[in-house]
Amino acid sequence: MPEHDLTETREYFANVPIQSNGFHVKGANSLDWGNKNRLSRIFSKDSGKTVMFAVDHGYFQGPTTGLERLDLAVPPLLDDADALMATRGAVRTSIDPSMNKPIVLRASGGPSILRELSDERVAVTIEDALRINASAMAVQMFIGSENETQSMQNLTKLVDAGMRYGIPVMGVVAVGKEMVRDARYFRLACRIGAELGAQIIKVYYTDKEFDSIVSTCPVPIVVAGGKKLPEMEALVMAERAIAEGAAGLDMGRNIFQSKAPRAMIKAVRAVVHEGLTAKDAFSLYEDLSE
Ligand code: R5P
Repeated sequence: MPEHDLTETREYFANVPIQSNGFHVKGANSLDWGNKNRLSRIFSKDSGKTVMFAVDHGYFQGPTTGLERLDLAVPPLLDDADALMATRGAVRTSIDPSMNKPIVLRASGGPSILRELSDERVAVTIEDALRINASAMAVQMFIGSENETQSMQNLTKLVDAGMRYGIPVMGVVAVGKEMVRDARYFRLACRIGAELGAQIIKVYYTDKEFDSIVSTCPVPIVVAGGKKLPEMEALVMAERAIAEGAAGLDMGRNIFQSKAPRAMIKAVRAVVHEGLTAKDAFSLYEDLSE
């Protein structure tokens, strides 16, 4: 099929705000009260954004560098996170239940790094998500991969269960080896996830046309941190993602593998909620690291 030039269409839609009738989370206006209340715990009403701290890596990687001791690595960073993305095993074994941050519960799993990663299943019942007081459930979406249909069925099953009880679902765009991490692929994946019912989408930042991924997705986009980068580079990515419409970050390794994780999460927070430039946030990181 020939490629059409969509520049004008994208510019038009990027400049027309989604009608939210006052509710601060994109695309959530028609949801029930419980669903909105949970989304409000994740996305600040003041900035409309979130700093989600991702520590769910162990569900397929085992003891990831920096997370060998969840009980020591995670709690000191929670004050500066708006939400914690974690598995039920991590939450129950290593997080104090009096902690009052919303949990984005890892709800899919199965294969490890030794097998085909896309072969996931739903890994949590809705009853257990409620018992753990999850504010959202997270599920991988392997668009274009071997197990695409199965992974999207995982998502729709969780959305159906979540809609019964008012728990939103975050679709996590997982990029298979055969996929190109470009805006064209991410527009497709994010839109499919939202159309199939996810109320939040997590995706990687792209250097080109990231704003078009945001503007063609009717629910909030949070940006994955990805592999550990030098702190300044991670902050530049955060600044650009926010400037181009992301509703926040879901960052793991660039925080817990930083030389100074507490300083880093505070710097990321300042970019997301206070609009600091990467340069100013890096100075903050350096000051706080001393
Ligand atoms: C990936 O699919 C999981 O949700 C990861 O745990 C999460 O994306 C990791 O965050 P980061 O890439 O920032 O370490």
